[in-house]
Amino acid sequence: MKRLDGKVVVITGVSAGIGRATAELFAKEGALILGADINEDGGESITEKIQVSGGSMTFVKTDVSSESGIKALFEVAGEMGGVDVLFNNAGVEVAKGLLDTSEENWNQSVNVNLKSVFFCSKYAIQQMKEKGKGAIINNSSVAGLVGSTFSPAYSAAKGGIIALTKTLAADFGEFNIRVNCICPGAIETPMLERVIDFQGDPQEVRARRKKNYPMGRFGTAKEVAQTALFLASDDSSFVTGAIIAVDGGFTSK
Ligand SMILES: NC(=O)c1ccc[n+]([C@@H]2O[C@H](COP(=O)([O-])OP(=O)(O)OC[C@H]3O[C@@H](n4cnc5c(N)ncnc54)[C@H](O)[C@@H]3O)[C@@H](O)[C@H]2O)c1
Repeated sequence: MKRLDGKVVVITGVSAGIGRATAELFAKEGALILGADINEDGGESITEKIQVSGGSMTFVKTDVSSESGIKALFEVAGEMGGVDVLFNNAGVEVAKGLLDTSEENWNQSVNVNLKSVFFCSKYAIQQMKEKGKGAIINNSSVAGLVGSTFSPAYSAAKGGIIALTKTLAADFGEFNIRVNCICPGAIETPMLERVIDFQGDPQEVRARRKKNYPMGRFGTAKEVAQTALFLASDDSSFVTGAIIAVDGGFTSK
């Protein structure tokens, strides 16, 4: 028996990195993926890849920083029978220190990383309440657990996701809706590449940053996807409000 057989799963930020790897893994587990991303080319390519290998995926171009875009996305989820699992994964890291951060940078960081989680959860929970069950997984960051001096606006938004996870877990547990949060450390994705390039000589930055990881390496998108699979499936049926670091020990020292 596959772990997500017939489940309607909404994944935001599906076109690259962690969202893409999660869509591939969940489709193999029998999920009906509804993917959302602002990047249409990436969304179409992962949709084709999943469909060719026998999985099910629909892609809707969506800017998750807008409530109207999110509402339209969940209308499609409703037509598919209502959402069973939501992976709030879309994010953007504005790698600028406090003194260089503009109002526009702040708004982008908070709207894409945090406002999106709030409004996707709002529309998903309406459908999950009708179904009597649901699982939401929020993708925060170690930057929500400890300070991140090179991206304070990102850190603030990611910390907000942790507080929102606990709030929604407390509010909707009685409806059998579980809400959990993953905090990845550095994960090999296009986002990490961009941030490392911003920080200086990539080889030097990588070597220096890896020293902060007890496991001596960065993680893979698949390693985050596997944690999301646990939280999406009935394997975690009594887990809610949990904040799980997937960080090779980064926050343990
Ligand atoms: N890679 C890391 O080291 C790392 C570490 C901690 C947390 N995270 C978090 O994991 C999540 C995924 O990150 P990733 O590394 O895969 O990033 P990525 O940049 O590789 O992929 C993010 C995806 O989100 C999409 N996106 C951006 N803005 C959007 C918007 N307004 N509407 C819809 N889609 C939008 C992008 O187009 C892209 O496809 C993010 O929330 C990120 O903050 C990543």
